[in-house]
Amino acid sequence: MHYIKTSIPRLLSKVRNVEGWLSDHEALFLYHAARMVPVSGEIVEIGSWKGKSSICLASGLSASGKSAFVWAVDPHEGILVAGKKKGVSTLSIFNRNIRGAGLTRFVKPVVSTSQRAVRHWSKPISFLFIDGLHDYIHTKQDYLLWKKYVVSGGVIAFHDGFCGIPGVWKAIDEQFFQSNLVDIGTVSSVLYGITGTPNFFEKMRVKSKITFIRFAQHIHALSWTPWWVKRLFIHTFIRMLLVTPYTIAVYMNK
Ligand SMILES: C[S@@+](CC[C@H](N)C(=O)[O-])C[C@H]1O[C@@H](n2cnc3c(N)ncnc32)[C@H](O)[C@@H]1O
Repeated sequence: MHYIKTSIPRLLSKVRNVEGWLSDHEALFLYHAARMVPVSGEIVEIGSWKGKSSICLASGLSASGKSAFVWAVDPHEGILVAGKKKGVSTLSIFNRNIRGAGLTRFVKPVVSTSQRAVRHWSKPISFLFIDGLHDYIHTKQDYLLWKKYVVSGGVIAFHDGFCGIPGVWKAIDEQFFQSNLVDIGTVSSVLYGITGTPNFFEKMRVKSKITFIRFAQHIHALSWTPWWVKRLFIHTFIRMLLVTPYTIAVYMNK
């Protein structure tokens, strides 16, 4: 596998030209987590749209020098909400964007739903990024179907999980928080965890971070709370309690 070093400004300029929903910080999180994750395995993305997140993950993978691929799972039917009619296919734009970013050899498009694709899957996963249909049922399914392939020390991340979309949050709170995690963090709306069997101190850390996150969600959901209170509590205070080395890499831009 070739090693390609990309500068952060070059990565961001590539990513900003692709239509999608990732903030710059979220894009950097995907890049750094794919680069830094200390275990071997494939990177799997559920929901690729036009390739914005795939470019970040593939850039991080190429910078890591590891021999793996980004498996970009998406039916490319232009459907963003469950039950809607098929739209315009996003596959050719996806392929064009990956090619334009010079990352074709790192990305394997899987043109399928996550539910069908997992039936043919057997490889270990180092990083699972869930960004498919954002309702409770599909987020829960994506998580439960793929989590068993994530190796200990790997990362599972949800887009729109932190103070984001209620269905995604419900799946995280009910399912993800019940699993074995050694740490939890957030970057913008991305909520992620590091898998593994926690020791006593890691258990305590995860437990307290879950309490902070639930508290942030509670404040976020209060309609009468002024925006500056939400900003102060969630984005200044609570976020500081949720850092991990991946979050630090994003904000220090290392
Ligand atoms: C929010 S978009 C993904 C955005 C993308 N990660 C990015 O950074 O631009 C959600 C994607 O999920 C895909 N999708 C819809 N149903 C799916 C399913 N059952 N399994 C996997 N992906 C699905 C849609 O085609 C759409 O491209």
